Amino acid sequence: MLKIDKLSASIAGNTVLRGITAEFRAGELLAVVGRNGAGKTTLLRAIMGLLPVSSGSVSMEGTEITRVAGHRRTALGIGYAPEDRVMFPTLTVEENLRLPCEVLQLPAAEVDRRLARVLEVVPQLKEMLGRSGAALSGGQGKMAALGRALMVGTKLVLLDEPFQGLAPVLAVQYAESLRRLHQIAPELCIVVTESNRSLLRDLPDATLTLERGELVVAPEPAGTH
Ligand SMILES: Nc1ncnc2c1ncn2[C@@H]1O[C@H](COP(=O)(O)OP(=O)(O)O)[C@@H](O)[C@H]1O
Ligand SMILES: [Mg+2]
Repeated sequence: MLKIDKLSASIAGNTVLRGITAEFRAGELLAVVGRNGAGKTTLLRAIMGLLPVSSGSVSMEGTEITRVAGHRRTALGIGYAPEDRVMFPTLTVEENLRLPCEVLQLPAAEVDRRLARVLEVVPQLKEMLGRSGAALSGGQGKMAALGRALMVGTKLVLLDEPFQGLAPVLAVQYAESLRRLHQIAPELCIVVTESNRSLLRDLPDATLTLERGELVVAPEPAGTH
């Protein structure tokens, strides 16, 4: 569905992504694992059009989007939950969730339908809907960011280090949400980055490993020999 071909990107003169070639397939729960500074966030930002790429291309369902503006990628059904969440503090959680759909000018009935699906996937959000975006704990913010990404990510969702810093109980709930999502939306491609692969346990169907801006062939997981 999403194809990345020899993608390179630089930040402040330093090459951060080096010739990344990968394909994200419909229905896949894919992990992108790499230590801090490996380029995980940069890769997701490049896919979202939030960072200029120096060479290579990104295409979605056969259409090249390398130079398509970020907001138009959202319209293609790509949702993104950044590492640092960024809920608007002056809006309620519900308004934060609805906002990206309103920007896309989706019909109200469609936005309601999507919100209902999000609440099915992340039931913990129900009691947070009326709260201010500023009144969430870190873990609640991650849940809300997942919900917001799902409001527009009908084909692909990119989740940047969602398990990082989550209390164990919330991490279990978050993983349950992703499993539920995988079942409810079997065609959706879910991409999760993580620096600590063990936090993902058996969640991913496949794992890509990023080292210093390059994809490497992953070592065999421990215990397979
Ligand atoms: N705003 C920035 N200015 C300068 N360098 C940056 C910036 N953002 C990221 N980098 C550099 O890009 C590399 C990849 O960063 P990042 O994509 O954030 O890695 P990860 O998400 O895997 O921790 C790192 O070496 C980092 O120092
Ligand atoms: Mg990062």
